[in-house]
Amino acid sequence: MSKKECACYDERDCKTILLTPEEIDSITTRLARAIEETYKDSPKQLVLVVILKGSMPFATDLMRKIHLPLQLEFMKVSSYGVGTKASGEIRIHLDLLREDLPECDVLVIEDIVDSGRTLSRLTQLLKNRNVNSVKTCTLLDKPSRREVPFVPDFCGVQIPDEFVIGYGLDYAEEYRNLPFIGVLKPEIYS
Ligand code: IMP
Ligand code: MG
Repeated sequence: MSKKECACYDERDCKTILLTPEEIDSITTRLARAIEETYKDSPKQLVLVVILKGSMPFATDLMRKIHLPLQLEFMKVSSYGVGTKASGEIRIHLDLLREDLPECDVLVIEDIVDSGRTLSRLTQLLKNRNVNSVKTCTLLDKPSRREVPFVPDFCGVQIPDEFVIGYGLDYAEEYRNLPFIGVLKPEIYS
């Protein structure tokens, strides 16, 4: 699918197409090879922890390209909005319940890193549970938006400070089913 064809899919609401399905496909392939390289010799159980809801399409594509034994778990978290007293904390809506975390290499799968609050808190929380190792993999990263220091272990692509939708990413719960990633027209959210 070309960028022009993507735009026709939902021309109304996207300013530009950032990543076509083909570009996403080559990014997930590259990430899968890097992940295999990192974990291929580990004696521990590889567990992908998928952060709902936005990471779902990314995780389903990525996991099928990782040619290693792995298990799947899900967590649902949200970070408190900036301006609230508890800023920096995360709320856990669905938790990871396993007894064998010291025997596991956990790889957290996220759609996008923005302020960095969600993944920095989440990785800390998992480390406190004595997981053998905790690493993070994000499809997208907006490093210019960082409010707390955080560097993902695996990153698909760094993007500028623009609000993106599609391939799992939402605006007000819409657009998650777009097969590409686009920049939302500012007039939609302003
Ligand atoms: P943070 O890194 O804790 O600020 O939060 C990352 C979360 O914010 C992601 O998992 C998304 O749910 C959401 N988010 C950040 N930027 C965008 C975007 O451009 N589009 C859609 N969701 C976003
Ligand atoms: Mg998210």
